[in-house]
Amino acid sequence: MAENGLIENGETDRASPAVLPSPAKNLPRIYSKIFINNEWHQSVSGKTFAIFNPASGERICDVEEGDKPDVDKAVEAARTAFGHGSPWRTLDTSARGRLLCKWADLIERDRHILATLETMDTGKPFLQSFAIDLEGCIRTLRYYAGWADKIHGKSIPVDDDFVMFTRHEPIGVCGQITPWNFPLLMFIWKVAPALCCGNTVVIKPAEQAPLTALYMGALIKEVPFPPGVVNIVPGYGPTAGAAIACHKDVDKVAFTGSTEVGRSITEAASNSNLKRVTLELGGKNPCIVFADSDLALAVECASQGAFFNQGQCCTAAARIFVEEPIYEEFVRRSVERLKARVVGNPFDPKTDQGPQIDQDQFDKILELIESGKKEGARLECGGRAIGDVGHYIQPTVFSEATDNMRIAREEIFGPVQVIMKFKSTEEVIRRANSSEFGLTAGVFTRNIDRALTVASALQSGTVWVNCYNALHAQAPFGGFKMSGNGREMGEYGLREYTEVKTITIKISRNNH
Ligand code: NAI
Ligand code: MG
Repeated sequence: MAENGLIENGETDRASPAVLPSPAKNLPRIYSKIFINNEWHQSVSGKTFAIFNPASGERICDVEEGDKPDVDKAVEAARTAFGHGSPWRTLDTSARGRLLCKWADLIERDRHILATLETMDTGKPFLQSFAIDLEGCIRTLRYYAGWADKIHGKSIPVDDDFVMFTRHEPIGVCGQITPWNFPLLMFIWKVAPALCCGNTVVIKPAEQAPLTALYMGALIKEVPFPPGVVNIVPGYGPTAGAAIACHKDVDKVAFTGSTEVGRSITEAASNSNLKRVTLELGGKNPCIVFADSDLALAVECASQGAFFNQGQCCTAAARIFVEEPIYEEFVRRSVERLKARVVGNPFDPKTDQGPQIDQDQFDKILELIESGKKEGARLECGGRAIGDVGHYIQPTVFSEATDNMRIAREEIFGPVQVIMKFKSTEEVIRRANSSEFGLTAGVFTRNIDRALTVASALQSGTVWVNCYNALHAQAPFGGFKMSGNGREMGEYGLREYTEVKTITIKISRNNH
């Protein structure tokens, strides 16, 4: 850590919850350039863009603004690194796993710094950055490190004249585009499985929060991965992002973000070279609470599901359906619970909720809250901005919402809980599924038959029963319908980063 000019904060005693991790005392070392071939580059255009702290509105630094020429350089580096006989291609698979492990160790070493940087850049509470985002990064890397030497093909019997087998080979140069809500975690979710399978990467972090992704450049070099294996190009979506999506020498693109941009990426892929596309897009996730559920648990999970990460989650519990007999009580307890919710400085350990990421998101959320009021939902609490410094919004609860209201159909991506009423299982299944999205869902009931019936009927990539946001590196994650294509994480995630090659060998009978 000394080489980064930073103060070491000491190890956190994770066994003892009494000892809270604390932020890095000095401003973390900031990397602000484009990372190609394990070197830092200025943008070809000479342009930079400013990065702001959403809690204070202060400018943190300027970052080099990558665009098409920078993407071209990065793709060329990634292509060379992927070349036949290159150091990366000839590395044995166990060694590849060890590099991923080493990377995880370096992230763990710099965990305080990275959590500090993530909080400066996004406004998410420091303790959440530290305990959730960073923990997820480390676990994901270690999980995929274990897979690197276990990606087996099959031996396929046909008849005695042939030997046939498959190889699961890397796809090639993978373009990856990530969002700002979990900047470092999404970076790792993308890069770890790609490298595990032997690909090379050009990744563009979101323009709102690229700093932890850029810090990864320094760690990738330190591990070291061979030059060109991971290249990081900060920049805007319609320029640098689009250059990746339509690049003729990118073999696959993986994207997390809005449905609208997901669609444009699919178009760009099909209009260029039919590169493989995986998408993780929006959700309007149902969370169904039956009258026989553990009410305290359901209230807690639904609330966490709605408000976690300032509500900026594709998994957000966005449509909460509560069975009629417990509806009033559920709403009462949900509002009551928010009284203890602390909104404020993300570096204060008592803070539960920080600011929204930027002005655009802030405006979008407040506009949707207004639409809820106008369309006749009952505002139980919140509904306004807080103060004039930073993009803070009150935790907001709407009851008496109906399916046709905008707050029940559109992704709000903010601290807003929308609670609706239902009467029967058939009805709630139909209503839960009447969405163009299908990312996640929650079901709360003590009746195992009901839980399984509803879980199998929901059109959703993930169903949580009596829990919410229970994400694991081992579990595939992705969407039905317009919530996306393909799966990330788990063993299934490996399929999206490999091509299957069939090798068929004819046995000659003449050589005996
Ligand atoms: P976005 O989809 O515009 O941005 C996500 C990423 O895509 C960023 O890296 C961005 O630079 C890039 N991008 C933007 N336009 C692009 C293009 N034409 N070609 C290639 N890449 C492009 O999302 P944004 O504007 O930040 O948020 C808008 C809404 O999207 C949010 O309100 C929320 O509803 C949803 N969203 C969903 C996320 C998820 O986790 N599924 C994450 C972020 C946003
Ligand atoms: Mg956008």
